[in-house]
Amino acid sequence: MKKVASGISPVIAVNKSATASLYRQVYEGYRKAIMEGNVRAGQRVPSTRVLAMELGISRIPVLSAYAQLLAEGYLESRVGSGTIVSRSLPQRGTAVQTPNAESAKISSRKRPLSKGCLRLSSRKDFYRRRGMGMFVASQVAFEHFPLQVWNSLVTRHIRRTNAKSLDYGDPMGLKELRETIAAHLRTARGVRCEADQIIIVSGSQQGLEVTARVLLDPGNRVWMEEPGYGFAQGVFASGGCEIVPIPVDAEGLNVAAGIKKCRTARAVLVTPSHQYPLGVTMTASRRFQLLDWAERYGSWIIEDDYDSEYRYESMPVTSLQGLDGNARVVYIGTFSKVLFPSLRLGYIVVPADLVDRFLAVRFAMDIGPANFYQAVLADFIREGHFSRHIRRMRAVYAERRSVLIESIRRELGPAAEIQGAEAGMHVCVTLKGISDLEIAERAARQDLWLIPLSRLYLGKATRQGFILGFGSTPVEEIPGAVRKLRAMIGSTSSVICRR
Ligand SMILES: Cc1ncc(COP(=O)(O)O)c(C=O)c1O
Repeated sequence: MKKVASGISPVIAVNKSATASLYRQVYEGYRKAIMEGNVRAGQRVPSTRVLAMELGISRIPVLSAYAQLLAEGYLESRVGSGTIVSRSLPQRGTAVQTPNAESAKISSRKRPLSKGCLRLSSRKDFYRRRGMGMFVASQVAFEHFPLQVWNSLVTRHIRRTNAKSLDYGDPMGLKELRETIAAHLRTARGVRCEADQIIIVSGSQQGLEVTARVLLDPGNRVWMEEPGYGFAQGVFASGGCEIVPIPVDAEGLNVAAGIKKCRTARAVLVTPSHQYPLGVTMTASRRFQLLDWAERYGSWIIEDDYDSEYRYESMPVTSLQGLDGNARVVYIGTFSKVLFPSLRLGYIVVPADLVDRFLAVRFAMDIGPANFYQAVLADFIREGHFSRHIRRMRAVYAERRSVLIESIRRELGPAAEIQGAEAGMHVCVTLKGISDLEIAERAARQDLWLIPLSRLYLGKATRQGFILGFGSTPVEEIPGAVRKLRAMIGSTSSVICRR
């Protein structure tokens, strides 16, 4: 006969010297746990043997209490599936806690959460709204991921799991993985690094958090690209830093404008390979200006290199870190775009003299990364699947990209300016005379997931448009989706209507 798993025991206080019988105490305790919503309808109850053992009493009072709870309809018993809390009971939430004045102060605090950060943190519905629809930026072609290969590596590592695997791992991350990443970065991205400068983190977001905690103090000023990556604002703002938005033009971050606005900023966050969201590749002269500025003022450059594996019209450009002879650049990379985002694996390339500081912060945060998927990923890279996947995906995305560009040109005409199509998995389309927020809201109702460009400005938006991800939009669906978009823009804008 199938063995039925025992449920978890609720907290029941039994006092062996109390006047109330043990049976009564167990009965009352269990009933209270059900009525207060700590144990919910349908939840399995522990076996009488387990509960008696955990309460340190004999089984008899537990048997009697269960019999009473069954008789009164709090519990129900099914042959073969054990005893559960009766499903016919009304669902109850856990007792509501009364909010206090201190938490009210924190929720209404303006600083250190910035406008951008608050906007993001209030987007509780991020995942629900994100959907798997068309144009979702930062979504990849999941259907092309070599799942069979990945699953076979996962199975291999499950088989290899032994008692030793259960211990804490290296807080820097698995050595084999760091070595494969270092080799890849040196070769493909021109990053100057050794494996012992690499710290594995759970994606760029954590990489940024660790970096900010090491390099920045509350009150420091940080340049951010305007428009820029919203999720990063939250990191700096919640660390009490002041964000200084610096405009991005056709050459990338305008370093001269930054110097004019706030020469002594402590750090800058840049996406030089493919600026998010405008898609500009930072020119060589701007790169050198930025490195000069950092050296002169003792500032830090945080390079977010999130999707540079995919370039369509030229060879990948060398990382900014690779041009830096003064160890002023902290390079952050991720597997979210090149593989898949739920993997939650990324890395920081840390200047050699700062490794210990970074590690101390990383350690304080969560001790270190989980071992299992690091080992799977190390084999995936070492056995050549990673580079094969990049090559295959470059072709897939190149096709999606060119169909998207053609469709935008055909449907939206010269009114639409396409930017940033040379690399990555999104383009930025700017249009004059529209309200991108309004159109994006309406588009979402028709399963088109556009990011309105104006939302990515911290200050006043100087351009309106959309970020259109093509990573997860199948080629055959792109023309129809752009036609839908045209109809939507046309009905709100004179620009497209008059065409
Ligand atoms: C600019 C930028 N940086 C980094 C990331 C990736 O973040 P993570 O590695 O935390 O998934 C994204 C993802 O969309 C991004 O757009």
